[in-house]
Amino acid sequence: MANDTFTIAPMSGAIGAEILGIDLAAPISDQTIAEIRKAQNDNLVIFFRDQDITPAQHLGFAQRFGEVVEYPLVKGLDDYPQIAPVIKLEHETVNFGGVWHSDTAYLPAPPKSTMLVARELPPYGGDTLFSNMYLAYETLSDGMKSLLDGLRAVNSTKKADASATREDRLKTGAKEGSDDEIASAHPVVRTHPETGRKILYVNAGHTTRFDNMTEAESAPILNYLFAHQIRPEFTCRFRWHPGSIAFWDNRAAQHNPINDYHGHKRVMHRITLAGEVPS
Ligand code: OGA
Ligand code: MN
Repeated sequence: MANDTFTIAPMSGAIGAEILGIDLAAPISDQTIAEIRKAQNDNLVIFFRDQDITPAQHLGFAQRFGEVVEYPLVKGLDDYPQIAPVIKLEHETVNFGGVWHSDTAYLPAPPKSTMLVARELPPYGGDTLFSNMYLAYETLSDGMKSLLDGLRAVNSTKKADASATREDRLKTGAKEGSDDEIASAHPVVRTHPETGRKILYVNAGHTTRFDNMTEAESAPILNYLFAHQIRPEFTCRFRWHPGSIAFWDNRAAQHNPINDYHGHKRVMHRITLAGEVPS
C-alpha cells in the first residue's frame, strides 16, 4: 500500500532528513503519522519532495500533527486564513524572516512546529538553513550551562532586523494591531516536552535581553550565544524545488532563509501548530 513505509535520509551530521516514499496526496495511516512525528523528533526538521498538494491538503496534513494557529501579524490566504503566504517579489530586497530565528518566539506559547510548502521558486538561491539547538546547548561549557540554566530572556516583535523583513508584507497584508509590540520572557534553556532534552532557546531574530537586565548588559553573552548556536557543524542547508516541504520543530531548531535571489519571485505557504508555554 502507498505510504505504509518510508525511508529517512539524513542531510547532515547535525540536523535534517528527507522522508522518501510518502505521497501526501494519498491516504496516510495514523501509524505512519506517528512514525513521521518520531522522524521529526529525531531529526528536528524533515523534508518531503515533489508533493503535489492543494492548500486544503496542506492544511489537512498539518492538522494530523496538532492544532493550527494563525500567524499574528500578516493576513493569511483569502480562502485559508490559517495559511500565511511567505513571499518575496521581483522588486523587493528583503525576504520575510531573513535572519536566524525561531518562529514567533515573542508569543507566550510559541508554535511547536512550522510546515512550509514551496509554491514558486527563483531559478537559483532562496535555500533555507536550519540549526540544532540541542547541540548548541550541549556544546556549551559547564560554567556557561549553569549560568544560563536559571535565566529567562525577553523575546519581542520589535527587534529591528526581524521587523525589517516583515515590512513589505505589512504594507498590503497587515493584521489589525500588528504595530503593537508583542513580547514574552521565556527560559533561556528549555526542555523539549516530547524528547526531554535541553534546548538553547534564545535567537538573534527576536531575543532582546535577559529578563531583569538591560540590553547593554545582556548583549555580550547574547551575542556570544547567537554566534555559537549557528556554528556550521550544527546546521544543514535545504535546496527547495516546487512541491518541496519542510516541517520543522520550532523549539529545538532555528532557521534562516537566504536572501540571494534578487530580481526573482519566491512564494511559500506556511502553517504553524500550537505549542506550549516554554519551561
Ligand atoms: C517562515 C520562514 C523560511 C523560508 O516562514 O517562518 O522563516 O524559507 N521562512 O522562507
Ligand atoms: Mn520563520
